Amino acid sequence: MSDRVYNFSAGPAMLPTPVMERIKNEFLDFQGLGASIVEISHRLPVFREILAATESLFRELTGLPENYKVLFMHGGAQMQFSAVPLNLMSRNSHIGSYFITGRWGTLAEKEARKYGNTEVLMDGKEAQYRQIPQFDSCRLDQESSYAHLTTNNTLYGTRWHTFPDTGNVPLVADATSDILSREMDYSLFGVVYAGLQKNLGTSGTGLVVIREDLLGHALPETPKLLDYALLEEHSSIPNTINVFAVYVMRLVLEWVKEQGGVAKMEKLAEQKSGLLYQVLDQSEFYSAVADSNDRSTMNVTFHLPQTELLEKFLTASDKEGLFALRGHAAVGGARASIYNAMPPEGVEALAQFMKEFERKHG
Ligand SMILES: Cc1ncc(COP(=O)(O)O)c(C=O)c1O
Repeated sequence: MSDRVYNFSAGPAMLPTPVMERIKNEFLDFQGLGASIVEISHRLPVFREILAATESLFRELTGLPENYKVLFMHGGAQMQFSAVPLNLMSRNSHIGSYFITGRWGTLAEKEARKYGNTEVLMDGKEAQYRQIPQFDSCRLDQESSYAHLTTNNTLYGTRWHTFPDTGNVPLVADATSDILSREMDYSLFGVVYAGLQKNLGTSGTGLVVIREDLLGHALPETPKLLDYALLEEHSSIPNTINVFAVYVMRLVLEWVKEQGGVAKMEKLAEQKSGLLYQVLDQSEFYSAVADSNDRSTMNVTFHLPQTELLEKFLTASDKEGLFALRGHAAVGGARASIYNAMPPEGVEALAQFMKEFERKHG
């Protein structure tokens, strides 16, 4: 696979090349079966072993406490915007509380309004989501059914460095864009979920980690395939699971383990993002989107002085094999998504390119 570019796509995103090679090598004949992984029944022991190994590797890598269940669900991350209120709203006051620090939180809160009442605990809109606003825990009604936040804001390139104390209210986290990139104490959360398409594999499937006492509270109208308790009862296969997504996730987790685990991923993420932030901080040409205190280590966002220069930058970077650097339409500018699979050499090449571009056009 010599022609692979450095892929800065926000998601679906770059996967580790050894993982892609392994998929390619075993695609036609999975471990001597004479059939592909996508051609076999999800009920066969061979797939059940993959599912069990994937869960067990995730538990090992994250140090997940025993009293948490791991579920695989259809629909990616946004499906959880519905599943969370459907499963948790009825627990207490029928109020879902939301920390809004970007577009995904906004959409999650909007979806939850269909199933109960919501309360917005904070909204960073005024500061154009460049920072994570301060939050006073006293503001949270302890009768709230849950409190939802987005750990890393993919569009704006901000993240929560320290999570808020929500007392007895279960904290629910959308960790789609930074899962496995930093060590997290899962016992702080009631639910953590993520679409797989950034640090866990392919799109369209979600991983849900849930504290077991939160199971069994689904609203009566909850669709079967969104009911956490039912999913748990059927070991995530009440119907045909996305076998390919689980298989890829297993390979990605094996790769993370081989690299040295989550602590190593975190260290690398700090080094890689640090290199790009250094370029931004030393420049009078580029301007960073995110405030320095709240910067993401996964999505580095920045503007160029003019639209014309941005277009030049995107065309020239593409030619250099630095792919998919256009920022999200809601933010504009450029965005380098540097998930776990992005090698340090890719970031070094981008940093070099940015300096050179500034020298020519600054
Ligand atoms: C933090 C976050 N939440 C939710 C989503 C939506 O994910 P999906 O397309 O899997 O629904 C994304 C997608 O990029 C994301 O970054």
